[in-house]
Amino acid sequence: MSVLMHTLHVELGERSYPVYIGRDLLADSQLLASHVSGSQVVIVSNETVAPLYMDRVKAALGPRKRLTEVVLPDGEQYKTLATLSDIFDQVMAAGHNRTTTFVALGGGVVGDITGFAAACYQRGVNFVQIPTTLLAQVDSSVGGKTAVNHPLGKNMIGAFYQPAAVLIDTNTLQTLPPRELAAGLAEVIKYGLISDEPFYRWLQLDMPKLLAREEAALAEAIERSCSNKAQVVSADEREGGIRAILNLGHTFGHAIETAQGYGQWLHGEAVAVGMVLALELSARRGVVARDEVESLRALLRAAGLPVEPPADMTPAVFLELMGRDKKVVDGTLRLVLLEGVGSACIVDDVADEELISLLESHLSRA
Ligand code: NAD
Ligand code: GLY
Repeated sequence: MSVLMHTLHVELGERSYPVYIGRDLLADSQLLASHVSGSQVVIVSNETVAPLYMDRVKAALGPRKRLTEVVLPDGEQYKTLATLSDIFDQVMAAGHNRTTTFVALGGGVVGDITGFAAACYQRGVNFVQIPTTLLAQVDSSVGGKTAVNHPLGKNMIGAFYQPAAVLIDTNTLQTLPPRELAAGLAEVIKYGLISDEPFYRWLQLDMPKLLAREEAALAEAIERSCSNKAQVVSADEREGGIRAILNLGHTFGHAIETAQGYGQWLHGEAVAVGMVLALELSARRGVVARDEVESLRALLRAAGLPVEPPADMTPAVFLELMGRDKKVVDGTLRLVLLEGVGSACIVDDVADEELISLLESHLSRA
């Protein structure tokens, strides 16, 4: 039986929507029916998640005039225009019209491509997110960023397109591989660092409960993460300013992901190291206590995450790759740093020498 534990709202005027968090929500017919209008549905999933959860979602949707399952191959390498085109081929062949609802059942890859497909199909159709990784539950399913990758850059082709609802079923985390759980925990820790010190202190105490996948602790961590994200998104939907704080650690992290080749390091693992570097830089600038850097390392290690960059990277490689980051504006690198635990800021005055000195000290420890 489904149990709804938390409901929160992303406030965006007429594009506002609820985020439901609880047990067995993907099998909750009433909840789904209230956001899946009309008799046509397209469920997009992948070959790992579909065998685990597709039947339950279909049963919850009940008989529909037209229900199409699109099962994608699993992997970031399929988040492409070619896969998007395959989705449209199947949806068109099945005769879906503008009243159809797209349901994304999977992690961030499925959510991002399905959201973009929903934004484009017949100029925009109804869309519901059912995220099944921790990362997707606390980050990618909330906030309306949708995209596919281009060979020359990640998430380069996309749209802001908000879902009608996000259904987070904490039970799906029971089948998630441990490394994927840890990657999601990096983003959870990020919310504590950027905007919620009490949450961060709670994570320091209760990380073992999250690793043991205790339902109440997971639901609490997801709720706090989504609430923090929802507040930022409500204030700055299209990342004109403050939304950039959600990228704490990401500029360093993207450099690691790119240098190592996507797929070697998970996004959350690279972000974990990036957060250590950002906090260390904040400490070197005298705005964060040095103890906090050690505490963050301890928390990340406890979550099963790396805390040092790959030993084969050099400061020059970091600087080159960070220079290509989307947050570089007119040649000036903008970085998210902290003013203290629970308070992020965006700076554009970090000198190359400061970065080189920081990276040299960390690469020598790796
Ligand atoms: P993912 O979607 O590749 O999922 C990770 C792996 O877990 C996959 O193999 C998947 O099949 C599997 N999986 C998913 N749910 C499962 C479950 N319940 N049980 C067992 N296995 C399961 O990766 P991700 O980390 O969820 O998402 C990464 C993607 O999200 C990237 O493409 C990234 O660009 C995107 N992203 C988007 C935003 C945004 O705001 N839109 C934010 C962060 C990340
Ligand atoms: N993941 C960053 C954002 O949603 O803005």
